[in-house]
Amino acid sequence: MITVLDPARPAPDLRPFKELSNDTLTRRIQEIRAAMGRRLLILGHHYQQDEVIALADLRGDSYQLSALAAAEEQCRAIAFCGVHFMAETADILANRPERVERRGGERVTVVLPDIKAGCSMADMAGIDQVEDCWEQLAEVIDVEQVMPVTYVNSAAGLKAFCGRHGGIVCTSSNARAVLEWSFARRRRVLFFPDQHLGRNTARTMGIPLDEMPIWNPRESELGGNSRDAILRSRVLLWKGHCSVHQMFTAQHVAQFREKYPGIKILVHPECMMEVVDRADTIGSTSRIIQAVEKAPPGSKWAIGTELHLVQRLKHEHPDQEIHFLSPMVCMCATMHRIDLPHLCWSLENLVAGTPVNVVRVDDETARFALEALKRMLEVK
Ligand code: 13P
Ligand code: SF4
Repeated sequence: MITVLDPARPAPDLRPFKELSNDTLTRRIQEIRAAMGRRLLILGHHYQQDEVIALADLRGDSYQLSALAAAEEQCRAIAFCGVHFMAETADILANRPERVERRGGERVTVVLPDIKAGCSMADMAGIDQVEDCWEQLAEVIDVEQVMPVTYVNSAAGLKAFCGRHGGIVCTSSNARAVLEWSFARRRRVLFFPDQHLGRNTARTMGIPLDEMPIWNPRESELGGNSRDAILRSRVLLWKGHCSVHQMFTAQHVAQFREKYPGIKILVHPECMMEVVDRADTIGSTSRIIQAVEKAPPGSKWAIGTELHLVQRLKHEHPDQEIHFLSPMVCMCATMHRIDLPHLCWSLENLVAGTPVNVVRVDDETARFALEALKRMLEVK
């Protein structure tokens, strides 16, 4: 049970929260944090706005945030400042059957301050499409020899699909280890929904492009591939992408190199292959942060990832020269939906005993998704 601060207080309407100043919202959120102590955990992804991330108990990349949700023993509520798939993952991991039993049947309530904070990439693979793909593949190849791998940026139903078929979830920080794990067990991989992470990772393992056909779920026959291409495949890449990271181009890299000799290009592996091939360092959001933190004063960077993170790095490291690797604004509009009014509103509802935007994965989906997530946490 969440302790109710003031049970008589009626569930607040969101609209008045939008009229409050950031100082007032921050103070009210801090009051709830102080009252709930370790029973409340605010998790923040690195792409969150500065004023939101400042209030997070813990911040991290997708892998770290999943591990934190899995490890936490004392909390009874998680406010996830991130996007929908992250809150689903936290719900599954924080409410593993053995944990719920240890708490005497009590579940951790996971709230996403704005339920519309989704991920457009995750929406590019639907469970019906993936099941249809699997059935079609089974007519051409032995699917017992195909490892389904879903990027963590996917709905819980896809993680459950992987769990049911002996597959695994990967994140941007363990994708290579997950592919190695997969090839140690099966001959081929079906990788969804991000073609770029799949391709960029498989190429580091020496897999040639002609063994990585793209499965387009909009094509009715074999995802737009010939039988031969499927027979030759090692990694079947789903036709999905991140619209934020797809904005960075090889031309941007060339322009920065020309204008700033000695500059280092640092990008997320969701960027296109042409960009990753020309970069100096490729890594998850945490790896990007570490690279800058470890660099000496005077270092020059052009960084290809979400705008809020790059701006924060710029602000925190005034002794380095940090540029955003695009003349365009590439920000994740859905991550940006989480703001102080939504966070304060969802927390006040939580303590009032009228939680809003609770993300709860159904038991059957959670059971199988957990199989794939446990493998993800083991493979580093
Ligand atoms: P990280 O796991 O690297 O934080 O990436 C999450 C994400 O959504 C990147 O677009
Ligand atoms: Fe999804 Fe891209 Fe936003 Fe990450 S940056 S949450 S992949 S839309």
